[in-house]
Amino acid sequence: MYEDVSEVLLTEEQIQQRIRELAEQISADYKGKDLLLVCVLKGGILFLTDLMRQLDIPHAIDFMAISSYGAGTESSGVVRILMDLNTSIEGKNVLIVEDIVDTGLTASYLTRLLRARRPASLALCVLLDKRVRRIAEDLPVRYIGFEIPDRFVVGYGLDYRQVYRNLPFVGVLREEVLSRDFPYSP
Ligand code: IMP
Repeated sequence: MYEDVSEVLLTEEQIQQRIRELAEQISADYKGKDLLLVCVLKGGILFLTDLMRQLDIPHAIDFMAISSYGAGTESSGVVRILMDLNTSIEGKNVLIVEDIVDTGLTASYLTRLLRARRPASLALCVLLDKRVRRIAEDLPVRYIGFEIPDRFVVGYGLDYRQVYRNLPFVGVLREEVLSRDFPYSP
C-alpha cells in the first residue's frame, strides 16, 4: 500500500508529537471538569485512540457516524447521520474529535445538532485543517493539529474509497490509483 502514496505530508513522528502537545493542552484546559470526547467515525478513530492515551485527565468517549462524501473525493454537501451517540450530552463538556475539516459543512452541521442538546460546552479538536477550502464560518475549532494545503490526503484514519485508513502517516495518492477499482465503495 505504501507504494500507492506519492508524497508523505505528515510523518508518523510529526503526528504523534503534535498529538502529545494537543493532549497536554486539552488536559490543562479541562482539568477539574468532566469531559466527553465525541469521535466522528470513521475517520477520527485513529486520532481518538492516540489522543486519549495521551490525556491525563478522566474522560469518557462516545461515537457518531456521519457521511458527508459519496464514494469520490468531492464533498456532496449532504450530511447524513448514520449512527447517533449513546449518551445524553446535556450539561456536559463535549469535545468533538475529527480527522479533518475541509469545507466545514460536516462540522457545522454536527455542532448545530449537538448544541441543540444543550451541553455545558462544545468545542472541536481536528487533526487536519484545510483552511483554504472553508465554506462554513464560526466553527468552534479550539484545537488544530496541522493546517494542510488543498490536496486530497489519505492515511491516519482518512480514506480513499474506504481504503488507506491504516497508514500511520498522512500522504497523497498517486494519480493512477484514483481510477483503480476498489471493492469497498459504498
Ligand atoms: P467537510 O464537510 O468538507 O469539512 O468534509 C469533512 C469530511 O470529508 C471529513 O470528515 C472526511 O471524511 C472527508 N474529507 C475531507 N477532505 C478529505 C481528504 O483530503 N481525504 C479524505 N477525506 C477527506
